[in-house]
This record gives sequence, C-alpha cells and structure tokens, in this order.
Amino acid sequence: MRSNILDILRQANGTYVSGEDIARTMNVSRTAVWKHIRELKQAGYAIDSHSRSGYCLMETPDLLLPSEIQNGRKTKVLGKDIQYYKEVISTNNQAKFAAQQDAGEGTIIVSEAQTSGRGRLARGWYSPAEKGIWFSVILRPHFLPQEAPKCTLLAAVAIVKAIETITEIQVGIKWPNDILYNKLKLVGILTEMNAEMDCINYIIIGMGINVNIQKNEFPLELQHIATSLAIIKGKKISRVQLLNEILFQIETLYNIAQAEGFVKILEEWKKYSVTLGKTVDVIGINDTFAGLAMDIDADGALLVKTKAGIKRVLAGDVSI
Ligand code: BTN
Repeated sequence: MRSNILDILRQANGTYVSGEDIARTMNVSRTAVWKHIRELKQAGYAIDSHSRSGYCLMETPDLLLPSEIQNGRKTKVLGKDIQYYKEVISTNNQAKFAAQQDAGEGTIIVSEAQTSGRGRLARGWYSPAEKGIWFSVILRPHFLPQEAPKCTLLAAVAIVKAIETITEIQVGIKWPNDILYNKLKLVGILTEMNAEMDCINYIIIGMGINVNIQKNEFPLELQHIATSLAIIKGKKISRVQLLNEILFQIETLYNIAQAEGFVKILEEWKKYSVTLGKTVDVIGINDTFAGLAMDIDADGALLVKTKAGIKRVLAGDVSI
C-alpha cells in the first residue's frame, strides 16, 4: 500500500496529487491515505501536504529503504526480499539468522550502520550510519562446497563493474577480495558458508563499500589505509543506485557460474587484479613468505613463485 502511494507520488513528478484521487485510485479511505503519508514522512520522505492541492513528493531520503531499492531494482531474484535495519551488530550475523529461518535465495540484509561489523581474519569493519553500503546476500547455489570460495571472487568482480558503471572510477582487486584504489581499501568482502559434505545449505556474502565517508570521518588508524568513493570523486554518490547496480552485476555473474562454472568469472577477476605480476608478501595460515604472484588456479588459489618453488595459497592475506 505504502509503495503504491509512493509510486503515485513519484509519477506525479513534483506536482500535487489530491488525497481524494489517491484514495480513489487505491480504493481506500482518505484517512487511510493520510495515515500512510504520515508513515512515509516518518520514514524520511519529504512530502508537502496542502489542504486544497493534496500531496507532493519533494525529496526522497538518502537511505537504503526497501521502497527506494525496489524502485530501481533490475534483478529477478537478488533483492526481491529485503530485510532493512537502521542498526545491527553485523549484517552477516543477521543474514545467518535469516538463512536459518529459511530466508530464500537472493534475500538481502541491509543496515544503515553496524555496531560490530566483521572483517576477514577476525578483524573489524568500520560501518558508520548512512555513509556506506553494509549488506549481505543469502545464496543457495547448486554447486559443491569446494566451489564456494570463488563466490567471493565473483562478488569482487561484480562490485568493480558496478563501481565503474555508476562512478566511472577504475579500481583493482587485491587477492582474494579487497577492492583498492591507489592501494587504499574501498571495499571488503566476507563470505561465510553453511554446508554438508556434498551440498551447500547457504552462502552469505557480506559486502562493505565505503561510499560517502569523508577522510576525517575515518578513525585515525584507518585514514592512511582506507578511502571512499566520495573522497575519490569529490562528491556524494547515490548509495541506492550503486547497490542496485551491484545486485544486478552479482546476479548476472551468479547465473553464469551456476550454468557454466567459474571459468569466465576467474578470467574477469584476472583482468582487474592488482596482485598478479607483483612481488608479494604472503601471510598464510601457517607461514609467511615472499614471492612473485603468477596466477590464480581453477580453485581461485593464488600461485606464488618462491625460491623453494611454486606455492599455492588458498587462504590468507597478501601485501603488495
Ligand atoms: C574484509 O575486508 O576484511 C571484509 C569486510 C567485510 C565487511 C562487510 S560489511 C557487511 C557485512 N557484515 C559484516 O559484519 N561484514 C561484512
């Protein structure tokens, strides 16, 4: 109902629509219309009410409201169901909970802020209110559990493409999934899985995109290692538009992965890689070593040429 009223106001394109017309179109009372308008205002929509001319949508809020995402959504499955929060501990935690409650494939959990956003290797993720896109996607793919790590690479490629489309900023991927601009971190991805030996129950891909954070708003310890799209571009970026493009790109690549495997996605990943061809320090799970990052293999593992031969890195961190 609320989204129908919003559609009517949007279509009026900055002109007034009378309460009576809205009520008639929707077959409800004028009081019901008035109540929904009040709720929309509470949600952050600037709607001017005039006793004679009716209602006019003056401004939509700069929030990741489901009604705003749905309005520009280009996907079939991803983002069809949206759980929206003003604040959560971590959207990945929330997504895990939702997945255990049978949330369907493509459900997304979006929050304006996270009080304890989680990063890889037990790190935290800075997630201030309304300044970034902090969200998680629930996937229920048919492929085998050992393929799951490649979903992280898939998400990285999708985000790079979406950032290029919306902002024209060219960014690179540091293995396995950091998105960087001039060596500064712009995006982090945390993939988690619940699986049996031979089937995946669900995969959660959590993504943190620094969108409208100003340099002095980052905590001091992050100011020299992180950046945001607004800093790079020198202006605010629409989070709703970017999120919709990311959903579209993930869905496109995910459909390819389900139909034909990950070959094409790994090829795309290599094009955007800022790791391959560089001398890297690898901080593996068990050891630390240096070498030349040569390639990634069919599993997405990094192949590093060292004095002792070629080492295959499946998990860990690299510095370039
Ligand atoms: C990393 O680079 O270490 C990964 C960071 C992932 C952060 C995102 S923000 C949304 C989702 N919820 C979390 O708690 N973490 C991920």
